[in-house]
Amino acid sequence: MAMDDFVLNPPFNVTRASHVVLTVRDLDASKAFYTDLAGLVVSDEDSDAVYLRGMEENCHHSLVLRKAGNTLCKRIGLRMQTDDDLKKAADYFGARGAETQFVDTPYQGLTLHVRDSQGMPLEFCATMEFRPRLMTAYDQYRGASAQRLDHYQIQSSDVRRAYDFYQPLGFRTSEYTYSKNADGTENLWGVWMQRKGNPHDIVFTNGPGPRLHHFAYTLRDASDMIRACDVAGALGLGQRLERGPGRHGISGAMFVYFRDPDGHRIELFNTHYQHIDIEPPIAWDLADPKRADQWGLPAQEKWFAEATAFEGADIVPPTLSIEPPTLERFLKIKAA
Ligand SMILES: [Fe+2]
Repeated sequence: MAMDDFVLNPPFNVTRASHVVLTVRDLDASKAFYTDLAGLVVSDEDSDAVYLRGMEENCHHSLVLRKAGNTLCKRIGLRMQTDDDLKKAADYFGARGAETQFVDTPYQGLTLHVRDSQGMPLEFCATMEFRPRLMTAYDQYRGASAQRLDHYQIQSSDVRRAYDFYQPLGFRTSEYTYSKNADGTENLWGVWMQRKGNPHDIVFTNGPGPRLHHFAYTLRDASDMIRACDVAGALGLGQRLERGPGRHGISGAMFVYFRDPDGHRIELFNTHYQHIDIEPPIAWDLADPKRADQWGLPAQEKWFAEATAFEGADIVPPTLSIEPPTLERFLKIKAA
């Protein structure tokens, strides 16, 4: 399957995945999960919201929890280099018929709202208030000591359509997954795209969407990952460990996935690689079990089926009707 060349001079400069805004039913329970287990720190909070950041993050927040009677993703944030890039983006999207809006957002500078081609709500900003980096404040380390937000994974009803939206904006494909048809032709099942020079800022995989499958924080090393599992067990949150620890083929990351009190999924991981030079993407066959986990065990069915809806975005069935390679299927085949 041929992929398009990288767009090296995009119309505006997105620099990285920045922050995610989730609604939660119980602010105290969610705050405890993300501080005690993930190890994020609170930058600010009020009766309606908690603003959190990773230990090495200088900017005010990478996770915002908003109290609500539902469990949605309100927006995913993408960082721009400058406010001028935000204005260029408003012009770019406006010229293509998208509704754009500059909004006032706490602790952020100029902020632009727009929906992508799937209806997913995006929030662009170039500045945030600063808070101290705490990466050497070892006395304050808790749980997994999550360091920084790295990427989002989105379930998409049409991965090719998502790719066609982000590729012209300079998002580069580091890796992709294809599924094969009976006649030998291939479909784009998933695509890993980046702006910041590692394997991914945003990932799209085939499924009912758009839905937020997970957001991911980097850890210092594997021992912090094991500590997260131990802390989860000690806090009585062991059942929230959904997958792993394991080793992805894609990106080479060591990972573990937890579900928060509302079912939002967080990945804690480390050890992926740089993707800065102009290099061809790595291609994976969906049928290759080492694609998802080098150590042999696929993910549970619910890992493929369950995800967080976006506020105001209709969920559409996927264009590719492909049974995912679940743990349940794997065990059934092994037992036969
Ligand atoms: Fe991930």
